[in-house]
Amino acid sequence: MVDILPLSSYPSYIDLLPAIQTCNITNLPENYFLKYYLYHALTWPQLSFVAVVRPRNGYKNNQGQVSVSGQYPKVVGYVLAKMEEEPTDGVQHGHITSLSVMRTHRRLGIAERLMRMSQRAMAECHRAQFVSLHVRVSNTAALHLYRDTLGFRVDSVESKYYADGEDAYAMRMDLSNMWLDWAEIERKDRERQAKDEKDADEGDEVGELGKKDEEREKEKNKENEKMVRVKVGRSLGVGDLVEKNEAQTASS
Ligand SMILES: CC(C)(COP(=O)(O)OP(=O)(O)OC[C@H]1O[C@@H](n2cnc3c(N)ncnc32)[C@H](O)[C@@H]1OP(=O)(O)O)[C@@H](O)C(=O)NCCC(=O)NCCS
Repeated sequence: MVDILPLSSYPSYIDLLPAIQTCNITNLPENYFLKYYLYHALTWPQLSFVAVVRPRNGYKNNQGQVSVSGQYPKVVGYVLAKMEEEPTDGVQHGHITSLSVMRTHRRLGIAERLMRMSQRAMAECHRAQFVSLHVRVSNTAALHLYRDTLGFRVDSVESKYYADGEDAYAMRMDLSNMWLDWAEIERKDRERQAKDEKDADEGDEVGELGKKDEEREKEKNKENEKMVRVKVGRSLGVGDLVEKNEAQTASS
């Protein structure tokens, strides 16, 4: 099973960066220093994702003990993404720096999921207006993914964009329809809070205040029913020795 994890969540997947770099080197001619991956993970921790296959027996050895002997999950894909730091047009937008899936795990929908998760995070966390990327004009698989599956459109062709002289399609996709309506979310929060406060069980009032009217009434009656000890003496008859309920006597 393949899991897709945010690169910088807790526990941190930062230690997968070398494996992510290997996945990049294996599949693409555009490569980066390790510190560039780290820069992405630390600066925009929500935007990059890694697809991993966990060890078959979890992180346990044959004896069932948890082993930390370098059993990392196997990286089978990643998307490295960022927010454009100084957009020339001043419009806040995201950018896909790199995307790759190992041959062994292609056509399983991994790239699509990686892309969608990153795009959602761009819109929700950074209110990105759109996401942009470059793709080689000869890269049919990626072009299909971006244009047909995800809905990117070609913005322009950038001549000799790549180091080997190949042109690039500069593509973009609008993300504003994925923005969260924070005003609406806050309004709902306030509503919920007000309802909670209304329904809150703050416990009954204590002491005299906590007593209900009937209780108070009962206690009053009890007081009236107070048993009164009468005088006792050898000379008194049996009738004088019994306790009398004066309240009853009074009312009867
Ligand atoms: C491009 C790449 C990332 C696609 O990864 P993937 O996980 O196999 O893609 P998915 O399974 O998510 O495919 C989603 C869609 O992409 C398109 N697609 C993927 N591979 C394709 C191929 N070989 N030919 C045509 N379309 C393809 C299809 O539209 C596919 O949808 P479908 O399966 O419903 O037909 C992968 O081929 C790769 O890593 N290539 C090398 C690196 C690279 O080119 N990166 C992009 C740089 S811009």
